[in-house]
Amino acid sequence: MQDFTFWNPTKIIFGKNTVKAIGSEAQAFGRKALMVYGRSSIKRSGVYDQVVESLKEAGIQIVEYAEVKSNPVLSHTREGIELARREGVEMIIAVGGGSVIDESKSIAAAVKGQTDVWDYYAGSATIRDALPLLVVLTLAATGSEMNSGAVLTNEDTLQKFNIGSPHLFPKVSILDPTATTTVPARYVAYSAADAITHLLEGYFTGVDPETFIQDRFVESLVEAIMASTARILNDPEDYEARAAMMWAATWALNGFPTAGIGPHGFPNHMIEHSLSALYDVPHGAGLSIVLPAWMSYAARTAPAKYARFAAKVFRIEDKDQAAAAEQGIAALKGWFERIGTPTRLASFDISEGDLDRIAENATMLANKWGLTAYTKEVIAEVLRLCL
Ligand code: NZQ
Ligand code: ZN
Repeated sequence: MQDFTFWNPTKIIFGKNTVKAIGSEAQAFGRKALMVYGRSSIKRSGVYDQVVESLKEAGIQIVEYAEVKSNPVLSHTREGIELARREGVEMIIAVGGGSVIDESKSIAAAVKGQTDVWDYYAGSATIRDALPLLVVLTLAATGSEMNSGAVLTNEDTLQKFNIGSPHLFPKVSILDPTATTTVPARYVAYSAADAITHLLEGYFTGVDPETFIQDRFVESLVEAIMASTARILNDPEDYEARAAMMWAATWALNGFPTAGIGPHGFPNHMIEHSLSALYDVPHGAGLSIVLPAWMSYAARTAPAKYARFAAKVFRIEDKDQAAAAEQGIAALKGWFERIGTPTRLASFDISEGDLDRIAENATMLANKWGLTAYTKEVIAEVLRLCL
């Protein structure tokens, strides 16, 4: 195990009907809040009414900012920053999934800064402060509710980039599994693929060979996500399964699974961000296409960890490590297909002629993230396995 610092200051309030705690939690941060949300889901589910009622009861003045799109974009974020400045809000309250939380993080940081928000994403400015952010989570997937990262698409340059700063950890995140009961089957499947990929990126790319705790933690969480996904698809009102999915997805990207594994990369996310930037693919759906292909590519040279994954998660035993690895990858891909998340680029009408453009786009992130082994040719090779 390598040395590490694990610091995660987000307060989690977890449980049935906890949405109504938002008002009393917000009181610690001021009297006026920008309430950020998406298109229509929170109004249809009733979460909107619960949040507004709780904030009003607590005496919090609300400035609403809606219409955050899935895969949030720069233009809408800039408008949110202007609104937050104009209204002099003291905190941001994000009510939604990863897109709403991420856009809220961008707004929270930029309101306190002196520069255009994209400068943080381009790497030409550093986040020095942010407004306090509180979250009411409605979709269990990205882990943004308990981490310090955010993602944003610049729709002019077609770049989907990320930022990270200790200032971006939400102060409080309310995780009420009942707020996710309305998440449709399609997004349940995409979200499972996202959370599993968060766990497996470090599991497969971490450099330390002695990852006794982290391996077992990741394998258990992957199994928990698979089991709860099956139960949710069978019965969308299954509270225990929604709760397990919510807590597992939060832990999948809160810094704990990668603590001690040493340097590691996120190559699947690197490639998927280009799919989202260019074709507006839902994040988890892009990952379920890239992950099995990337695993096949990576297992060719070092199959041992993939064979272990096959044994631990799918109970596949084969003395030939390469064969075991391939069987495990096929099992994961088959599971993605069964739950209804795509495994081929053709699902989004992306064909061989598009690969060059995607690979070109992905090299921007490869350079930014220092994934030097991922040349345009290597990325194109992985993409060919996604056809
Ligand atoms: O817009 P509304 O009407 O709210 O609908 C949303 C949206 O269409 C809907 N939804 C949310 N909660 C619902 C619901 N529908 C019914 N019932 C509910 N309770 O779901 C759709 C997708 O929402 P979105 O927030 O886009 O999904 P997700 O949570 O998967 O977030 C994706 C974004 O997060 C980024 C992704 O790249 C993408 O931009 N990520 C953020 C990360 C982070 N900050 O740590 C890490 C991830 O790897 C990821 O990159
Ligand atoms: Zn992700």
